This record gives sequence, C-alpha cells and structure tokens, in this order.
Amino acid sequence: MRRILVAVAIGLPVIASSLMAATGTDGVQTRLQADNLAVVARGEIVYQAHCASCHGVQLEGQANWRQRNAQGRLPAPPHDATGHTWHHADDLLFEITKFGPGVVIGDTSYLSDMPAYANILNDAEIVAVLSFIKNTWPDNERQWQEEVNGTQIDWQLPETDKPSLLDKILK
Ligand code: HEC
Repeated sequence: MRRILVAVAIGLPVIASSLMAATGTDGVQTRLQADNLAVVARGEIVYQAHCASCHGVQLEGQANWRQRNAQGRLPAPPHDATGHTWHHADDLLFEITKFGPGVVIGDTSYLSDMPAYANILNDAEIVAVLSFIKNTWPDNERQWQEEVNGTQIDWQLPETDKPSLLDKILK
C-alpha cells in the first residue's frame, strides 16, 4: 500500500507503471510455473506433505471456512475453484505462503493459523507448491487469474480496517 501512496504523490501515469511492477513485500515479482509439469509434480509432493493437513488432500479446505472460530481465526480456505486463491496474483500467493498473512497485509498483530513458510520451504518449493495448486484450476479461473497477474489488481483495492486478509483482499 505504501507503494501506491508514493505513486499517488508522483502522479497518475506512475500509478499504472507502479502497479504493473508491483513487487509486494520482498521487492521481487515472483511468477508461478503452472504449465511446467516437472515443477507441478514436485509441488504436489510439497502440497501433500505441508499443506493438505489444513487445506485438504483434494484442496477442498476446512468446513465452514468463511466463519471465524472461537479464537477469531479463519479455518483454511479451499485452494480449488470453490475458494478464492485464484483471485490473487502469483506474487501475492507466493508472499502469503512465504511470509504469512499478517506480514503481507502489514498488520503483524493479525492472528492467523496460516504458517509462514520462509524457514520451512525454499523459494523454489513455494513456487512449486503454488504452481501445483494453480495447475488444478479450470480454464475460466486460470484466465481470470492471469488478468489479475497482468494488472496486479490486488494492490489497487482500497485499505479497509483489515478484519482479515481475506476480507481485505476481497473487498
Ligand atoms: C495449520 C494450517 C495450515 C497449513 C498447514 C497451511 N495453511 Fe494456508 N492457510 C491457512 C489458513 C487458516 C488460511 C486463512 C488465512 C487467514 O487467516 O486469513 C490460509 C490461507 C492461505 C492462503 C491465502 C488464500 C486466499 O485465498 O487468500 C494461501 C495462498 C495459502 N494458505 C497457502 C498455503 C500453502 C501453499 C501451504 C503449504 C505450503 C499452506 N497454506 C499450509 C492454514 C494453513
């Protein structure tokens, strides 16, 4: 969000180029490799070992995943087409997985059961697991998500009071 504010100060043409070059938390724009079947196959192994326990063996997520539990935390959403993982750009998915939701939304007090994988998986493994997830999406969702990648539209959404990562990004 800081980047956008800087762009606003500089002027409109800069916003467009700034959004195109959005690099998020780590200053790098990471792209997934959902059509590289070797990467996807590695990613499936990583998924079953590290993600399936919460996000489901079939990527189906946890029951009632839109409702917070007694601790105020969200259950794990599905990663298949019924969820909203496909609403987000490659780079954002990479950063949520690497740094955890709190860091990505700039609110480290945000409580989430989604672990940060920076010290557990290397960057190539994170790319692989998300490439596997992306590879499972049907054509319509794939196409929609590529448009998000093109515009980095996530970064244009207005700031909210950030009740949650999902609420914030979906508004
Ligand atoms: C201990 C349970 C748990 C594990 C294991 C887990 N997640 Fe999550 N994940 C969550 C929860 C809970 C959320 C919802 C985040 C929130 O609180 O807003 C989430 C959210 C996400 C999101 C954001 C989805 C969206 O639509 O906004 C991504 C991407 C993600 N997880 C990827 C992964 C990947 C990749 C792995 C394995 C490397 C993984 N997760 C392992 C619990 C988990």
